[in-house]
Amino acid sequence: MRKKWMAVILISVLFLTMAAWGSNGNNTNKTNSQETEQAGNGIVSQKDDSETEDKASVETLPEESEDSAEIQSEENNDSHILIAYFSRVGNTDFPEGIDALSSASLILKDGEIYGNTQYIATLIEQYTDGDLFLIETEEKYPADYDETDEQGGRENRERTRPELAAHVQNIDDYHTIFLGFPIWYYDMPMAVYAFLEEYDLSGKKIIPFVTSGGSSFSDSISEIQKLQPEAEVETDGFKATHSKINDVTPENVGEWIAGLKL
Ligand SMILES: Cc1cc2nc3c(=O)[nH]c(=O)nc-3n(C[C@H](O)[C@H](O)[C@H](O)COP(=O)(O)O)c2cc1C
Repeated sequence: MRKKWMAVILISVLFLTMAAWGSNGNNTNKTNSQETEQAGNGIVSQKDDSETEDKASVETLPEESEDSAEIQSEENNDSHILIAYFSRVGNTDFPEGIDALSSASLILKDGEIYGNTQYIATLIEQYTDGDLFLIETEEKYPADYDETDEQGGRENRERTRPELAAHVQNIDDYHTIFLGFPIWYYDMPMAVYAFLEEYDLSGKKIIPFVTSGGSSFSDSISEIQKLQPEAEVETDGFKATHSKINDVTPENVGEWIAGLKL
């Protein structure tokens, strides 16, 4: 009899440990929760690699989606506005406990760490109810800022096109695309070139927004137009420098969007 109880207790402990482990796995980092949000926002995207860390959120999807590594929204959100952005957060494996306050490229809001461009993207989302989409590279950038700086410089000189890890499958559903990125080497990060080369955005409106250390749009607006000659590219983009990012209010972004007369 005693043996039987011990077996019951052992099985219960094992079960509880596995449950706790599983729930942590779904909250390991912000990218995972972002991915769930993206999938729930009506974007139909496809991950190239089902073995990436984001798989934790994919696991909650129906089995056939997981097998084909496809993320398919079950909500029928009829937003026609896409907010596609590239940012260091989401494209970097940061160690636990990263110090957001001492980094030029991270901000802390309400206990959450955001990339500068990601933060502006979330403000745009508040005003437009558009669908957020992270332009995500297959390979993460180094957590060390200087190493990312070096890598970004190398990619820019060599005009590399990094492989993208997620793709918008329902791009035709969107008539307006807010496109956000940090200025890297007075230019768009190469991942943004890869994004723009992947789709035919003819007839759509592209509205750029950038963050930087001080540079403005540089040639990025004309580069976007070159890559998407049949799209209407807004020249009145939004820009913010990283030292002032905490001063950007939702109202600033709201006023800019109101002026666009979408
Ligand atoms: C690889 C790299 C290149 C950069 N090049 C520039 C630049 O040419 N001009 C500039 O003003 N800031 C530059 N910056 C600073 C970023 O544009 C700025 O910190 C931006 O807000 C980062 O946004 P994020 O947090 O969304 O990644 C660079 C940063 C990195 C990592």
